[in-house]
Amino acid sequence: MKNETAVMDQAVRLRTGAYWMPFTHNRYFKKNPRSRILARAEGAYYTTAEGKRLFDCISGMWCCPLGHGHPKIAEAVARQVKELDYSPAFQMGHPKIFSLAERIVELAPAGMSQVFFANSGSEAVDTALKIAVAYHRMKGEAARTRLFGRERGYHGVGIGGISVGGIAPNRKMFAPLLLQGVDHLPHTYNAAEMAFSRGQPKWGAHLAEELERLVALHDASTIAAVIVEPMQGSGGVIVPPAGYLERLRAICDKHGILLIFDEVITGFGRLGEPFGAQRFGVMPDMITFAKIVTNGVIPMGGVIVKPAIYDAFMTGPEIAVELFHGYTYSGHPMAAAAAHATLDAIEEEGSFERVRELEPVLEQAVHSLKGEPGVADIRNIGLTAAVELEPLRENGQARPGARGLKVFEHGMEEGMLFRFSGDTIAMAPPFISTQAEIGRMVEVLRGAIQATR
Ligand SMILES: Cc1ncc(COP(=O)(O)O)c(C=O)c1O
Repeated sequence: MKNETAVMDQAVRLRTGAYWMPFTHNRYFKKNPRSRILARAEGAYYTTAEGKRLFDCISGMWCCPLGHGHPKIAEAVARQVKELDYSPAFQMGHPKIFSLAERIVELAPAGMSQVFFANSGSEAVDTALKIAVAYHRMKGEAARTRLFGRERGYHGVGIGGISVGGIAPNRKMFAPLLLQGVDHLPHTYNAAEMAFSRGQPKWGAHLAEELERLVALHDASTIAAVIVEPMQGSGGVIVPPAGYLERLRAICDKHGILLIFDEVITGFGRLGEPFGAQRFGVMPDMITFAKIVTNGVIPMGGVIVKPAIYDAFMTGPEIAVELFHGYTYSGHPMAAAAAHATLDAIEEEGSFERVRELEPVLEQAVHSLKGEPGVADIRNIGLTAAVELEPLRENGQARPGARGLKVFEHGMEEGMLFRFSGDTIAMAPPFISTQAEIGRMVEVLRGAIQATR
């Protein structure tokens, strides 16, 4: 207990000035950091430096669904640091990364065969984009360099990821750096047609036809790949319309374009199947993953590919490097150990089944918020949901984001760590949540919505 208090005291005493916080309102945060410094975590709960217990409504940042301080993962990591803390990633390997690649391929949709490791979702995405362009070049189609993303898509913060990404503020400050030859599909969200849908909206499959329009505009011979999140997470839990992904697949096949699913959020169980590809029954050519693969304990990301892609590179002299790409920490032994323990825990704890059990519980609870003041939409699939709120108004002017922040702060008071993006509140509770915890999360949100009308 004494030790615990010491850790918290130290956290509170930390000076905040030197730390430039990512994706954060630094000045606002630093005015009152105390309540927002997390000192400890266990299971589905964080404890702040002030000793307040918070239910982790978004599983860290979508990455810790098996709960914090998972004993098996902690043990595996502790063992690994003593056994082999680091091994060079190029021209060398270690046993756990080979076996991890095998396990990931086994979980992936049938027909995928190799895994390239990176350290984050952003790196995974930039890796996949590079592989796509290089693949066509290896096949003698070097003119296929264009990459298509989608409006409202989030693919991390690398130059490739922000180029194909479709969230305007993430792009506009860096406009001169954005890749050439990128275009975007329209997003699939239409409040008039799909507000308050449960699961996949019925309207919107036809929006995939926009890909045909882009192909006609740019010509198939110049297009390398299309990248989409099967379910847009950071963009606000935008669920693909029924039939939409199937149609994208068919159009890509028709024109020899690679289809990449960015499964950094949906990979490893968030939708009740190993990947969104299985949930939606659509097979991409590459899958990017990160987050849940290590339960968020040690950073890891990667790209899973089909054999045709890997094989295209396995030509030329055997002693030549086939792909001039990789990171010092690709396949890091610590991350590999954390990932093995995570996959063991997923199996032992029946995590995918658990998500399928909890999906209707969350759906029922969250849709009961319809009719609360200023609730513009509610969306859900798997163990995730979003509630979109109308913005607060001041002197007749909308103040976007002010309500989201208030709901977040109300949640903190009431022991809930919500994630807000503008005025949308996203929830992705841990797979280990109880039904009662999900119920309470939604009731606290109801209170916050009523308090911020
Ligand atoms: C779909 C998707 N791709 C890529 C990323 C970037 O991952 P990272 O923050 O690990 O770089 C994210 C992060 O949330 C994501 O949701």
